[in-house]
Amino acid sequence: MKVAALVPAAGSGQRLGLGPKAMVEVAGRSLLARSVAALHPHVDEVVVALPSGLTPPADVPARFILGGDTRQRSVLALLQASDADVVLIHDAARPFLPPTVARAVRAAAVQHGAATAALPVADTLVRATADRWEERVERQGLWAVQTPQGFVREVLLGAHLDAERAGHLATDDAGLVRWAGGEVALVPGDARLFKVTTPGDLRLADALARQLDD
Ligand code: CTP
Ligand code: MG
Repeated sequence: MKVAALVPAAGSGQRLGLGPKAMVEVAGRSLLARSVAALHPHVDEVVVALPSGLTPPADVPARFILGGDTRQRSVLALLQASDADVVLIHDAARPFLPPTVARAVRAAAVQHGAATAALPVADTLVRATADRWEERVERQGLWAVQTPQGFVREVLLGAHLDAERAGHLATDDAGLVRWAGGEVALVPGDARLFKVTTPGDLRLADALARQLDD
């Protein structure tokens, strides 16, 4: 059984505002280099989708392909570039991947065909109109979905091709499999798997990286 890590890293990082986000550094090492280093021990190959015009970085042990204009298209291109039986999809923008989570997602993907790291929601949730509290939403049974997400490659490729034909856009791959009618297993994620999205996230990532690198 061949397992590949597929890393969408082709975003432009608009909200962070520092150029292609995968190449942004925290404590001297790029988000992409950190993500790939964390995935590497768990897979047979790593394939990374980069934006056009970016030279493949020398400190990242991976195969590189050109990404698409949406995350979904980048993942589809990655799926078509690998012949692995099982794939772990992981955002370059989530640089702190604990080994326990990588192992659990990989095992659940093999067992169930589709799985994602996710965390039970801890905050109170409300539905609002503009900035007015309308009603509290029951938190019981709600999870925040992270990556890595693991799949039998044929399962995810089938969902992507259906979505491409139907013009359906999802924010993540487990969501696509579910949209296509598949079952998705949830495995415990980790708070450290937050996605670096805003300048505030970058400060948090920098502090965490300094602590972990020590
Ligand atoms: N991504 C990708 N191809 C795209 C868009 C996004 O591979 N066309 C990747 C990003 O590089 C990132 C992950 O998908 O690793 C999650 O996307 P996001 O956090 O939204 O990153 P960006 O799209 O770069 O950021 P922004 O939305 O602020 O521009
Ligand atoms: Mg984006």
